[in-house]
Amino acid sequence: MTETLLRGRLLSFRDVPQGADDTDSYLYIEDGGVLMRDGVIVASGDFGQIHAQAALSTAVVDHRPNLILPGFIDTHIHFPQAQVIASWGAKLLDWLNTYTFPMEAEFSDASHAKRIASLFYDELVKHGTTTAVAFCSVHPESVDAYFDEAEKRNMRMIGGKVMMDRNAPDGLLDTPQTGYDQSLSLIEKWHGQGRALYAISPRFAITSTPEQLEMSQALIEAYPDCYIQTHLSENRDEIDFTLSLYPEASDYLNVYERYGLLGPRSLFGHSIYLNERERAAMAETGSVAVFCPTSNLFLGSGLYDKATFDGAGVRTAIATDVGGGTNYSMLRTLDEGYKVLQLSNQALDPLMSFYWITLGNARALQLDDKIGTLDAGTEADIVVLNCRSSSAMALRAERVTTLREELFLLQTLGDDRSIVETYVSGTPQLGAALVTTGLAP
Ligand code: GUN
Ligand code: ZN
Repeated sequence: MTETLLRGRLLSFRDVPQGADDTDSYLYIEDGGVLMRDGVIVASGDFGQIHAQAALSTAVVDHRPNLILPGFIDTHIHFPQAQVIASWGAKLLDWLNTYTFPMEAEFSDASHAKRIASLFYDELVKHGTTTAVAFCSVHPESVDAYFDEAEKRNMRMIGGKVMMDRNAPDGLLDTPQTGYDQSLSLIEKWHGQGRALYAISPRFAITSTPEQLEMSQALIEAYPDCYIQTHLSENRDEIDFTLSLYPEASDYLNVYERYGLLGPRSLFGHSIYLNERERAAMAETGSVAVFCPTSNLFLGSGLYDKATFDGAGVRTAIATDVGGGTNYSMLRTLDEGYKVLQLSNQALDPLMSFYWITLGNARALQLDDKIGTLDAGTEADIVVLNCRSSSAMALRAERVTTLREELFLLQTLGDDRSIVETYVSGTPQLGAALVTTGLAP
């Protein structure tokens, strides 16, 4: 049995904050403790009380005055795009053809996939992300590399082989049958293996024939507890091309709808240009509209409209979308998200921000019984944040008097330097130099 007690300022959400004064929506403890045993949080609360429950041999890691939160969750990212991030000057379809597809083609090489997977996970944990939902490449080798690495680190990761059978270079195409067969064997191999979960991943309507979307439907019917991830209404040219390929569809979402791909485990990246009918269909099916602000600004795609989703009762999530997105950090993502929403007078409250990247995203994945809070019985994926991690932040922090202000400082100026430590299944990933003491006097 390995038991560790973290000491610091705890913040864990209970529900969606209803405004700046909604102190019921979260738990905040100034001198808090989180007791972790064998990868699970066994108790959290007031340090004195938790300390009294711990064994004498328990190591104590004193993170004061830093904040201890549940690890961040990134609901849309592309693992084979770790060397595509920061590619200049193109909008979505040109960006895919010019930069992304050539880079993804290299993942047919298992040793390349393995190397990038390891470095990709290093970036996630450096940025405080403990769970991500990723597109792998079309090659099954890339999915094995992705989940092998997750298994090594005991991380709760979701992902899947991209299915794409047209409008891409030969080295990146599967067929409806091989896409189905490969996805099926990867589901059998990985879904529910340790902490891994599988996402059936037709890339988007442009790169999937109707036959491939039929096969995606067959997969989700056979494995209803898998996720579905795809892209939706990100860019005007993409929408026009999609509707020309599926002339019978009433709108973009209807393409996926006709193949039974909507539902409470369906994640639709971007979801920028939706009409009222599409929003109603998403709400009715419990589908999730995933906001990818750094990507939407970088690729000049458009502005996500959170208020209309909230108004229509659509479930939402937030994500980096690296490599269209420009940073692995969920803090940088919140900062850009705040600016996108400012343009439509939807100032994102910092409480809502930190709810979103923890419990909110966990709920979007229907995993809130396992991750996204510091509650006893959940998995010990935890991030420790320092709001004075740069000189500019330290200067601003001198005038911070409330938790909301501290959170807003973290999301506006924070980045990977603000991540003091990331715990995955109770194990520290960054090796921050910390004084660790036994409980015995
Ligand atoms: N649409 C289809 N594929 C992609 C991708 O890799 N990135 C983004 N941002 N949009 C896509
Ligand atoms: Zn994407």
